[in-house]
Amino acid sequence: MRNKILWTLFILCLISSFSLDANAKRISIGVLGKSVHPYWDVVRKGMEDAAKKLDVDTMFYVPQSEDIAKQIETLETWIGMGIDGISFAPSDPEAVVSVIKKAMKMGIPCISNDTDAPKSGRLCYIGTDNYTAGRIAGENMAKILKGKGKVAICTGSLTAMNSLERIEGFKDALSESPDIVIVEPVLVDYEDTSRAVELAETALLDNPDLDAFFGVYAFNGPSAAKAVKSAGKVGKVHIVCFDTTDEHLSLIEEGVIDATIGQRQYFMGYLSVVLLANMARVGVENMMMLLPREEGDVIIDTGVDVVTKSNLKDYVKLLNTWGVKR
Ligand code: BGC
Repeated sequence: MRNKILWTLFILCLISSFSLDANAKRISIGVLGKSVHPYWDVVRKGMEDAAKKLDVDTMFYVPQSEDIAKQIETLETWIGMGIDGISFAPSDPEAVVSVIKKAMKMGIPCISNDTDAPKSGRLCYIGTDNYTAGRIAGENMAKILKGKGKVAICTGSLTAMNSLERIEGFKDALSESPDIVIVEPVLVDYEDTSRAVELAETALLDNPDLDAFFGVYAFNGPSAAKAVKSAGKVGKVHIVCFDTTDEHLSLIEEGVIDATIGQRQYFMGYLSVVLLANMARVGVENMMMLLPREEGDVIIDTGVDVVTKSNLKDYVKLLNTWGVKR
């Protein structure tokens, strides 16, 4: 399957480079993310690198924290501008259905990135397989806790599909370890860092016997780390989380974060532009028929990497290949 996708992308890049025409109207593409965070800077970099290669214009927007109203407002603005393609990461997949349907009806191709909205009629999803990634996090947690302990889950959203799928995958993996207890309810910070730290601190106070945190979003691992450090519980309270910003990598080096699931979000931005630029140049149908379908849907899984102290150096080399420096 991966070969099929790589072959398709190779064809897409060829089409793009043959279609450059000095007199053609410039193509403009919008990429919408979920919150201000270094995680999204990498998506933006992927978007900008592809835009340079394919000679198209791009716009990027993220709200300060989880803010579905701002996301919809931005989508409406881009539609009003007559943009040529939209890649969006919805904080609430239900809430964007009508605006995405409207864009598609007006002939603006829409694809989702990072987190999906399958009912919106979007053409495809580019991003992590979040259920599987959550399971991988759960399996790593079970290993670290040697099958026994108490775990709190912290996330930035209870509506976004990526968060819900990661939590489901994590819980399913841990259901195979009956001596691991999950603290309910899941702690939600709505992608607000200071709230994330407060919640982690409160979880430690309310559960003096807590053994670990699962950080679902990029905010959560470092926020839990702050709380664990100030409670003097490094090494006693473990952390398994998502993403690989500089802060995550330093905390792994320090031994505060045990393992993190690195997403390849550079490609969420890069491939969004490759697909949408080609749709604008050769037509949506001609482009979609090149993409592999599974059960009628087009999903481009960008993959994940489990990063720990033992493979940190090699992982940084991978980041460097995307031009992401540490
Ligand atoms: C998620 C994004 C989220 C980001 C920052 C990532 O793990 O994939 O949806 O916006 O963390 O919280």
